[in-house]
Amino acid sequence: MLSRRTAWDRTENALTARVAAARARGQRLIDLTETNPTRVDLVDARPQVALLGHPRGAIYEPASLGHASAREAVARYVASRGGAIDPAHVVLAASTSELYAWLFQLLCDAGDRVLVPRPSYPLFQWLAGPEGVELDGYPLVREAGFRVDLDALERAVRPTTRALLLVSPNNPTGTFVRRDEAEALVALAARHDLAIVADEVFGDFVHGALPADRLPTFAGTEGALTFALGGLSKVCLLPQLKLGWGAVSGPRALVDEALARLEVLADTYLSVSTPVQLALPELLDARGPTLERTRARLAANLAAIDRAIEAGGPSCTVRRLPTDGGWTAILEVPRVLDEDGWARLLLDEQGVVVQPGWFYDLDRDGFLVVSLIVAEAAFAEGIERLVAAVDHASR
Ligand SMILES: Cc1ncc(COP(=O)(O)O)c(C=O)c1O
Repeated sequence: MLSRRTAWDRTENALTARVAAARARGQRLIDLTETNPTRVDLVDARPQVALLGHPRGAIYEPASLGHASAREAVARYVASRGGAIDPAHVVLAASTSELYAWLFQLLCDAGDRVLVPRPSYPLFQWLAGPEGVELDGYPLVREAGFRVDLDALERAVRPTTRALLLVSPNNPTGTFVRRDEAEALVALAARHDLAIVADEVFGDFVHGALPADRLPTFAGTEGALTFALGGLSKVCLLPQLKLGWGAVSGPRALVDEALARLEVLADTYLSVSTPVQLALPELLDARGPTLERTRARLAANLAAIDRAIEAGGPSCTVRRLPTDGGWTAILEVPRVLDEDGWARLLLDEQGVVVQPGWFYDLDRDGFLVVSLIVAEAAFAEGIERLVAAVDHASR
């Protein structure tokens, strides 16, 4: 009676079950996988949430692509990151995840295909599957700083491929797309009539200064139909407010037609609440202190990793992969245990929760992923335990 595309394997992941059991026993855990920004003592969201109580929100005046003031605020935000977009080319949704679904509906018929980076964020299959869209991975080469393998990407394009997804900075590698890669990606997209969907939700979270060879944003890209995505869940650390956006650019006729169709899709749901749209200009204008606090947290936690590795001496068996930005770090660990084995050992013996690299489709075994937004003291303790335990078990 129910569809094949929703016949998911919903068996609980063994590690998740083990963590839940440890919690149920009352074990104190240091959770290095926490990515919910409202749970890491980083932001007091009450003043921002209070902005939603403004009386203007009492009147419902639906606007399919979003209220003008909110779309103008997105255009100013995009400009602050080096992009140029006409507010009329901005579409709002309840989240970037919802926008992905709309873009799959806009770009793909059932059975069409979309290219996704490997490694990357594991939600794509859940977003594409229900829309009847198939995914093909294209490799990011770890040894080359997760550069796109352009030849492999070109080979992965099929007659039914409709879009090229990229995440910049990527989750979990933290790499921004380089300018030369971006140029090649846009040319490839134009050559094969593909749209570019650039997920830039972590674009504000650069570690230090962005190297000159990295592209800050795809917003405003002209050479191919491009959707640059962002949203409040990361930009303002307010996932509970439910607002994401897409900046549409490219060849004029394509942009106009895409926006006209997105307007119909958005009008069918009108999923973004009026209060959050009206509050968006103030939310974005006031994000500076939260951004600074978050950047300081990311820097402190990266430094804690490096300190723990240094304390392990020159033969320390744990290594941190270089990263440009984002909320995650990848640790390379010896392959004396597989990733699940390490995650289990760290949980059972140290009370430290980490993610195995395979969650993100890394190219081989031997990696653990940690969240860099965890509160500093807990993070430092968790990482010290992790490095010491891995080092001890590897000798
Ligand atoms: C790369 C990336 N894109 C999108 C999202 C989801 O964002 P939203 O809350 O706007 O759906 C996440 C969440 O972790 C993410 O890591």
